[in-house]
Formats: sequence, C-alpha cells, structure tokens
Amino acid sequence: MIKILLQGHDYKYEIAEFLKLFTSEFSFIDGSEDFDVINQVDILMSQLYIGKTDQKIRVSATSQVISDGEILFNNSIEEEYLLEEKKFAKNNKKIDNIVKTMSKRVIQKSMYPYFVDKYKIDLPWGILTGIRPVKKIHSLLDEGMDYEEIGKFMIDKYLISEEKLELILNIAKRERKFIYPLSENKISMYVSIPFCPSRCVYCSFPSNTLSEFGDVRDKYIEKLLWEIEGTHRQIMEGKKEIETLYIGGGTPTSLEAKQLDRLMSGLKNILDFTNIKEFTVEAGRPDTIDEEKLLVLKNHKVSRISINPQSMNEDTLLKIGRKHSVDDIKSVFKLARKMGFDNINMDLILGLPGEDPNMVKNTIKEILELNPENITVHTLALKRTSEISMNIEKYREGFTDYNNMVDMISICKEELSKNGYNPYYMYRQKHMLGNLENIGYSKKGFECLYNMQIMEERQTNMAFGAGAVSKFVYLDEDRLERVDDVKNLEIYLERVDDMINKKIREVRKNGD
Ligand SMILES: C[S@@+](CC[C@H](N)C(=O)[O-])C[C@H]1O[C@@H](n2cnc3c(N)ncnc32)[C@H](O)[C@@H]1O
Ligand code: SF4
Repeated sequence: MIKILLQGHDYKYEIAEFLKLFTSEFSFIDGSEDFDVINQVDILMSQLYIGKTDQKIRVSATSQVISDGEILFNNSIEEEYLLEEKKFAKNNKKIDNIVKTMSKRVIQKSMYPYFVDKYKIDLPWGILTGIRPVKKIHSLLDEGMDYEEIGKFMIDKYLISEEKLELILNIAKRERKFIYPLSENKISMYVSIPFCPSRCVYCSFPSNTLSEFGDVRDKYIEKLLWEIEGTHRQIMEGKKEIETLYIGGGTPTSLEAKQLDRLMSGLKNILDFTNIKEFTVEAGRPDTIDEEKLLVLKNHKVSRISINPQSMNEDTLLKIGRKHSVDDIKSVFKLARKMGFDNINMDLILGLPGEDPNMVKNTIKEILELNPENITVHTLALKRTSEISMNIEKYREGFTDYNNMVDMISICKEELSKNGYNPYYMYRQKHMLGNLENIGYSKKGFECLYNMQIMEERQTNMAFGAGAVSKFVYLDEDRLERVDDVKNLEIYLERVDDMINKKIREVRKNGD
C-alpha cells in the first residue's frame, strides 16, 4: 500500500486514474492529518509549483517516495510554455486549461519511473490517460505543429511508445481529410433506440429488454419524433445541415419492421435529408434482424448497417448472453449482402470471458471470410453496471491477462492490415482490461464519417432519445457543452418536453 500526500495542488482524481494503471493499492493522506513520516511505509509526496507571467507559464512537479524515513525515490519534472505571440495570450480560460494540462502531465511524469520500476509494467500509452488521443494530435496540428514535431512532443511529454504514436498519427492523417475544413453549420445526428432482446453480460448501454418494455416501443417512437420535431423547429431548421445520421442503441432492430418504418418516415417528414452523406443503422444483434426489417432500411436509403458478432466462438456467445449462434451471424450477413447492403460493419470485443488468442484468430478468420467493409475491434471494458462487474467473482477466472490482451490486439492488427483494412478512428475507455484501445478498421473509402466526428468532437452532435448525449461544439472558443437526455425510459416518456427545452436553452444562451 502506498499513501499519497499532495502539496500545492489537488489533482487527486487525475493521480488516482493514473495509478490505477499500475495498482489499486493506494490511498490519499489529508494534509491536515496527523501522520508521522518516519514510521509510515511508502509515502509518496507530490508537489507542484506554478509560475505564470504574461510571457510564459512554468510548472514543475516533484515526486518523492519515503519509506521508513529513507528517501527511496526523488524526481522533478519541469515544463515551460511561451505565451508571447500566441493569439489567445489574453484568454484566461484557455490559459487556465493549458496550466491544468501541463500540471497533470508533470505530476504524472514525475512519478512514472517509480511505478514502472516497482510494478515492472510497460505502458505503451505512457502517461496518456485520456480517451481521445487522436483529438490531442488534431489540436497540436491546429496549433501549427507538423507531424514530426508532434511525434517528438508526444514521446517527450507523454512517454508514448513508437507503436502507439504511429497508430494515432496515421489515424489523424486519415481523419483530417474527412473532418476538415471545420464548419459550425454542419452537424451529426444521433437517434437512440434503447431496447434490446436481452442484456449482454458486459454491457451498460441503454438497453431495456423487450420482455419487460417491448409494449412501450410505439409510444417511445412517437415521443422521440416529438422531441426531434420540437427541437428541429426551434433551433435547427434552416440553420444546420445534417451531415450524418446514426440510429443506435441499444439495438434499433429491436423495433418491429412497421415501427422502423414509422420512425424513418417520421424522420424524413421532419428533417432535410438532402445533404446527408451517411445514414447508419446499428442493427446489431443478428437475432433481431430479418428480411422484412432489412427491406425497410433499404427503402429508406440507409447506407451503412452493423451486424455485430462480438465473437465467432459459439461457447463465448452463450457465456455473454447473446442468444444467437455463429450460423445466425453468417446467414444474416449473407442476407444483407444479397439485398444490396454494400457497407456493413461488424463489432468485436477482445478479452471476453474464456477467450484466448487462438479464439480471436478464429473470430478474425471467420469475419474475413464474410468480408465486411468495417470491423470495429473493442477491448473488454468492465462497466460498473454490467452483469460481469456486478458478479465479478463468477467471471474472474475466465479473464485473460495483459500479455494475452496485447497478443489479441496484435493478431487483429496484423490480419486486418494484411487484408486491406486500415485503422481510421480509435478511442480508449476507462476500466478497459490493460487500459488499451478500441480501433475502428475499414477498407479504403468506407471510413465511417459519424464515428470520426463523434470521436474528435469538432462538430456538434444533436442526440435524441433516452440515454442520448448531445454535444454542442463552439469552435471559436474551443468549447464543448454536453446536454444529456435522461437514461431512464419511463422518465424520458414523461419528460420529453424537458429534453427539448434543455437543448433550446443551450443553443439560445449562446446567442443563436
Ligand atoms: C451500443 S453497443 C450496441 C450494439 C448492438 N446492440 C449489439 O449488441 O450488437 C456498441 C458496441 O459496443 C461494444 N461494447 C459494448 N459494451 C462493451 C464493453 N463492456 N466492453 C467493450 N466493448 C463493448 C460492443 O462491441 C457493441 O457492439
Ligand atoms: S451489447 Fe447490444 S444487444 Fe447487448 S445489451 Fe448492449 S446494446 Fe443490447
């Protein structure tokens, strides 16, 4: 157990997130607490100094580990940032953000060697803990740095490995062609269908089971269209162009064919579809997809669908509660192809209970035989409200270790690149096994614009329905505001007008 004492700062949360990469055995000591340095075992003192003038910001952090009165480790890191000639030199909010970013970085960097040595763990992402590493690259490019300078910066400041650096630089290069030039007039739109045939054991997404909530689907669609119509009429119409539309969930194909048709016809009546470049429906679970529903999607010109296996191993599908077989996945995929769907995504999860690298090899082999345009490779995240996390002891034995996880990621990377798939967007999640990453791969020309926009947060996303999260992007101020729709289905049905008003308030308070 290591005890941590903060001096001159209060970055407790950031330090805790960082230390969780190595261990859960730590606690913080309150500065006013009466403790005796001589008799305590392993105390980490983290100090921060910030100096700021009109010309520059200087931050320095020192980490000292003391055990039984002896200094075991002592390391200081300092960083300077020149403000002269910066356009935003007088923008206090921006400067505060820079100070915060620098502070977190030097604090973590100053303690990094101690933990790497103590736990003998090699972290390919270094001290980079955020979930959007590519967004950082875009910001540096926007500041005028070139790829080479950014590479040096990321290695020096974040201790990131060459391999991960190459990944994020390549993704940034690929994404830039799609998301630039930026425009505040274009938006992405998300529609949430929070129903599923049953709940998968790893999942914490909005998913109300059909056995319990199937009967409210009609009412939900009407309320959802009401929310979209009300919002559209008051703040979108004539002002915002919808670039991409994504219907996700949950599992949108948990709706009956007639209900899907009502939803999509309703959307068409309200929205201007003229400039939509991409229309995705995350069909998702093969056990919800049939010819009649696919026909509805086709008739409404859906351009991209997902058919998600998660794994192509029968035993795993049973364990995770998917309620469909490997054969179901194959036959639904072939049906969609026959009906003319020429842009299909398949989601996988690495590290599912009981899976080893050989099983992942099998999954990839089977998927490649189907030849989808997109393959999204997730690594298992232990979500607090999932069945796995709530009954962790039942599943613990089946978890894979960090090295296996790294192997599984490499298998995917190698096999997919051999077969013409490139990584085009990525993100990291908290509570991921090994704190690794999720990567979207695609064949050239099939990159999902919606996924790139949502990840890099350079475009407003208007999101509707229970559990949907809208993000309003203010490019000039480098500012982003979240507006959440309630997660609970029943409350959503009751309070849909509040959801409309929340969005209107957000837009109006910004003078639009
Ligand atoms: C919103 S979910 C919905 C997809 C659809 N309902 C389905 O199950 O096929 C999107 C994707 O997130 C991934 N996912 C969900 N929970 C996850 C977890 N705990 N760890 C890693 N990936 C997860 C799965 O690959 C899933 O297909
Ligand atoms: S993974 Fe998909 S089908 Fe399973 S519970 Fe989550 S949203 Fe529903």
